[in-house]
Amino acid sequence: MKISICGKGGSGKSTVVALLANEALKRGYQVLVVDSDESNSGLFRMFDFDHPPIPLMELVGGKKGLKQKMGQPSVLSKANIQTTQIPGGYLLQKDGLKLIAIGKILQSLEGCACPMGGLSREFLKKLDLAEDELAVVDMEAGVEHFGRGVETSIDSVLIVVEPPLESVNVGQKIHELASEMDIKNVWAVLNKVPTAEIAARLKAELQERYIEVVGCIYFDADIFNSSIEGKIPVNGAAVREIKEVMDSILSRAGMPTSR
Ligand SMILES: Nc1ncnc2c1ncn2[C@@H]1O[C@H](COP(=O)(O)OP(=O)(O)OP(=O)(O)O)[C@@H](O)[C@H]1O
Ligand SMILES: [Mg+2]
Repeated sequence: MKISICGKGGSGKSTVVALLANEALKRGYQVLVVDSDESNSGLFRMFDFDHPPIPLMELVGGKKGLKQKMGQPSVLSKANIQTTQIPGGYLLQKDGLKLIAIGKILQSLEGCACPMGGLSREFLKKLDLAEDELAVVDMEAGVEHFGRGVETSIDSVLIVVEPPLESVNVGQKIHELASEMDIKNVWAVLNKVPTAEIAARLKAELQERYIEVVGCIYFDADIFNSSIEGKIPVNGAAVREIKEVMDSILSRAGMPTSR
């Protein structure tokens, strides 16, 4: 399964990526986290690495070299890429979790992020997962990645929605774009919800828009407080709540809930 975690900026995409990845590991899945967000670079901290992976963009000579070097021999020019073929440094590993990053905007005036989108799209297309392997993609905020076709080979999209209406509206747009691309599974998870009443209202808003909700993560002060160090807690309410989300996703995708 290749699942991309999408939503409005700040809705909690990276947090949900980390919660889901940790939960999938506990269930015996191999997990590859793909950092496809070209702006934020802190995902590695959520997984307790002390430095980020070297972006795959460097493997093709950086943004400038991309066009010329895409066809030259490297793991990225293969027709199929298994995670075991990605060179060390570009892929960080800890306790069964693997982390890679596509590329980051490093300098002002370096041009748009389209090459990262192209590389994300091509990498995800070629990524050949083992049967017990999940790829969890931390997407950039908003909807531009759909324009770049990053989701072409994604089979599932999880939209993170928090209470503000704008988050619901972005979620609706993502749902429309993903459906247009014939992505098989498109679901939403509620996040940063303060009360059960707000959860019910948010769920109703999404259901009115024909968006299926697979779970709810309440506002969790521990998550918010840990974010000052760029980390997330390894236990607590959200870690329990993500279990229901994981069960729903795996069973709807026809995959075993544990390995
Ligand atoms: N359930 C939650 N309870 C409390 N705080 C949360 C929760 N989920 C996320 N947050 C906080 O919200 C902020 C944004 O979360 P996160 O970075 O995961 O969002 P994002 O969608 O990945 O943002 P970006 O669009 O910048 O990539 C962080 O401070 C995080 O700790
Ligand atoms: Mg993020």
